[in-house]
Amino acid sequence: MSKESINQSRLPKHIAIIMDGNGRWAKEKGKFRIFGHESGVKAVREVSEGCAELGVECLTLYAFSTENWNRPKLEVNALMTLLVRTIKSETKTLMKNGIKLDAIGDRSNLPKDCRRELEEAIEATKDNSGMTLILALSYSAKWDIVNATKIIAQKAVDGEISLEEVNEELIDKTLTTHKYPHPELMIRTSGELRISNFLLWEIAYSELYFTTVLWPDYRKEHLYEAIIDYQSRERRFGKTSEQLAT
Ligand code: IPE
Ligand code: IPE
Ligand code: MG
Repeated sequence: MSKESINQSRLPKHIAIIMDGNGRWAKEKGKFRIFGHESGVKAVREVSEGCAELGVECLTLYAFSTENWNRPKLEVNALMTLLVRTIKSETKTLMKNGIKLDAIGDRSNLPKDCRRELEEAIEATKDNSGMTLILALSYSAKWDIVNATKIIAQKAVDGEISLEEVNEELIDKTLTTHKYPHPELMIRTSGELRISNFLLWEIAYSELYFTTVLWPDYRKEHLYEAIIDYQSRERRFGKTSEQLAT
């Protein structure tokens, strides 16, 4: 699939990706899982660059879930080290491409150095005017929803809001994803057909795209393929085809 087949006027504003299959990719090659994670960095670079070149406004990458804390300590530590190293080495590229970095998730759980590197990179890139790259780190959708519920409940208890004011818009505004539009397209690699606690609220009407490609093998062409498939779909939002036509 080529880039030329993409209809620029129907480009998703926000793409979210569940980057999966690093471990299996490494295992297939007789290597340790962490080698798969390290090799996945190239795919992150490709996809970020691909989205930025096309003019996609936001790209959210699921990099580490709340549940991933339950992996063996060795793997968790290796992933955190890789994260610090990657953020450090990629900040220059982000600047060059005008990409703004942001993160969603429970930052308080991240190791100190990791959090510092992340916050420094977010600060350094905050005035960039191109695409926003959002890393979901120590993130889970249920965590975010519980968090938002607590904030809203507290406001109600304090008398700042009434029950009537609790609506979709308020929930939207209270989630850590509030700055960004809901993703129109959600991609998962590695052949798994599940959401794994990613953006549950925000994907209520997203188009889902699954591919068996393992994350370290993911390249721009795969991204183009997903976007072209997305553009071939009719998004009805509960209406009928006939209604959409008029
Ligand atoms: C995705 O690859 C990366 C993270 C979850 C951090 P996996 O590590 O889940 O790889 P598989 O799914 O075991 O192959
Ligand atoms: C989802 O992948 C989390 C990330 C890609 C960061 P997992 O590999 O952790 O998901 P499950 O366990 O297969 O559902
Ligand atoms: Mg996995």
